Amino acid sequence: MSATILALETSCDDTAAAVIRDGAVLSNVVAGQAVHNRYGGVVPEVASRAHQANIIPVVHQALQEAGVRMSELEAIAFTQGPGLLGSLMVGTSFAKGLALSLDIPIIGVNHMQAHVLAHFAEEPHPPFPFLCLTVSGGHTQIVHVHNFGAMTVLGETLDDAAGEAFDKIGKMMGLGYPAGPLIDRRARLGKPVFAFPEAAVDGLDFSFSGLKTAVRYFLREQTDKDPAFLETQLDNMCASIQHNIVGTLLKKLQKAAVQTGVQHIAIAGGVSANAALRAGLTELGSRLGWQTYIPAFEFCTDNAAMIGIAGYHRFIHGERTAMDAVPFAR
Ligand code: KG4
Ligand code: ZN
Repeated sequence: MSATILALETSCDDTAAAVIRDGAVLSNVVAGQAVHNRYGGVVPEVASRAHQANIIPVVHQALQEAGVRMSELEAIAFTQGPGLLGSLMVGTSFAKGLALSLDIPIIGVNHMQAHVLAHFAEEPHPPFPFLCLTVSGGHTQIVHVHNFGAMTVLGETLDDAAGEAFDKIGKMMGLGYPAGPLIDRRARLGKPVFAFPEAAVDGLDFSFSGLKTAVRYFLREQTDKDPAFLETQLDNMCASIQHNIVGTLLKKLQKAAVQTGVQHIAIAGGVSANAALRAGLTELGSRLGWQTYIPAFEFCTDNAAMIGIAGYHRFIHGERTAMDAVPFAR
């Protein structure tokens, strides 16, 4: 079925818009919010205001790059949740207002499902069923993906998400926000010489708060002995922390593959941009005979193309969202 859809993503600190036609991505625009860097994390109020400032220019650019006129749009997909309520509210209100004025429907999309469906923004995409390790700043999940609308969460984090662990530990080491990509870059210059305990969590669930505490005590101990410890060992610390987190993620993913018998394995979400996770998955996959799927960088971190892909599949199945729909934080 043919459909031209505008998609909006405003769940956290990136304002994003994309145009999708018949399931293909025509444009994918993201405006980041550097304003949070100096606070060492996302400040919700500041994020909502930045979304308000960014959304019109970002939508304009997405339409322009796609070569699509407003009048050609047939639906507007938007992130309904989970995320920061104030941020979600900006995208939701904008979607409703524009849809009302164009007399077209809106389609609310679940952000976590959209991260998984980002795999359908490019070829080759995984066949159903597949497993997806979705790792972002807010979530860590192993998802059994049956089809576009049906997904079962097999395991998830009991405390910090993987991206959150990268960010919080990075902050302890004096790195800026978000620390994930900075740790990734530093880790390439170091070696995982420091061993940190791996959380012993049953089943397919995760926990990263123990690692955070272990690193905090370790840093305190080492800097007491040598005040220059972080200066001289930052690269090795980054490599060690990354090694620990990626090791935990891949171990659970392997467990899920054995349990389900599924051999098509994907990763998604901001942390799937991590070089060690990407290389580790490829290496593990070729050793175990898996078919692995790793998104292009632009589809890993928050983007509107994934919202559009998810929205498109709901749209062609006749699904619509009521105009009185409200965003949900969790
Ligand atoms: O999916 P995403 O853009 O937003 C959420 O839905 O949360 O993920 C953002 C998270 C942040 O915690 C960030 O530090 C992490 O993804 N991240 C990375 C890398 N790039 C982004 N973590 C490790 N290595 C990276 N290269
Ligand atoms: Zn996300």
